[in-house]
Amino acid sequence: MITKIIKPTKINIEKCALELKKGNIIAFPTETVYGLGANALNSKAVKKIFIAKGRPQDNPLIMHIADKNDINKYVLNVPKKAQLLIDKFWPGPLTVILKKKKIVPKEITAGLNSVAIRMPANKIALELISKSNFPLAAPSANSSGKPSPTKAKHVYDDLKGKIKYVIDGNDCDIGIESTVIDFTSRTPTILRPGKITKEMIEKIIGKINVTKTKTKKVKSPGMKYTHYKPKAEVILIKTRIAQKFVNDISKKNNVLFILNSKTSIKAKQILKYKTNEQLAKNIFAWFRDADSKKINIIVVEAVKEIALGKAIMNRLKKASNVIIE
Ligand code: TXA
Ligand code: MG
Repeated sequence: MITKIIKPTKINIEKCALELKKGNIIAFPTETVYGLGANALNSKAVKKIFIAKGRPQDNPLIMHIADKNDINKYVLNVPKKAQLLIDKFWPGPLTVILKKKKIVPKEITAGLNSVAIRMPANKIALELISKSNFPLAAPSANSSGKPSPTKAKHVYDDLKGKIKYVIDGNDCDIGIESTVIDFTSRTPTILRPGKITKEMIEKIIGKINVTKTKTKKVKSPGMKYTHYKPKAEVILIKTRIAQKFVNDISKKNNVLFILNSKTSIKAKQILKYKTNEQLAKNIFAWFRDADSKKINIIVVEAVKEIALGKAIMNRLKKASNVIIE
């Protein structure tokens, strides 16, 4: 199969909707990362996602809708607190987990009786879902384990030959995946931190729980798999980075440093960011670039674990082989 990167014209979006109607899969942009979509109500189509990504069967997918009210078609009941968050943050990077109705096939939920749903804030994604006339099951459109794709080219590199179309929506605005919050437990619980932070949520609905990044008790099946890994070894540094360390590690390695713009060290390859928003937007692309430049070690400076920093550190911890504290 030949994979084409196509522009988000009306005709192309219609072509993709048709491809989805046939039970095939295509990739599309969202405000977080690119998604690999299939008709969420078609078991056979959903299965194709798992095969293309090489994704473990027990890791459930997110259902994407284009109209807030559609959630009632797929879940038994929307608790008041969930509704408050939906009203505040949708369309946007927030996924809610609720008890599913029968119409939702077990393939998308990996056999669980709950389903994850979100309404993305991306015009192309919304148009595609509306044109299709069914919700889209969509995980991030990378090969399983790799960094999530934030450019159409990333999707192409991972999935060429496996899908017909990638709709090019330029760089994703946010760059890391949506916040996932589970409403099936007694106290709502964040299973995956994202741009919508605990503080933003608690302002609306009061106290919630957060699952720690390193937990033995796995609630979200996706939490137990390795994620976001570039080929290079990632060293996450929580202390001040000394020039001597830089010199020593650079002697025998091809090293990339990802640093806050205020950190001043001398090295051959440095990528700098000023804000956490900038880091989130670029981190996965920088990981992928490093791989294409045959970099064997990426040294990343840790950020403060507050607000968006929490989500960034969650991804960095999962990607890293070594954490220096
Ligand atoms: O921003 C995003 O959420 C992107 C874009 C494409 O929308 N999608 C995404 O999907 O990141 P994925 O499949 O890479 O991550 C979905 C996460 C996984 O960790 C999965 O285990 C969890 O959500 N999940 C899905 N359904 C669940 C359920 N019923 N119960 C618990 N966790 C669930
Ligand atoms: Mg993913």
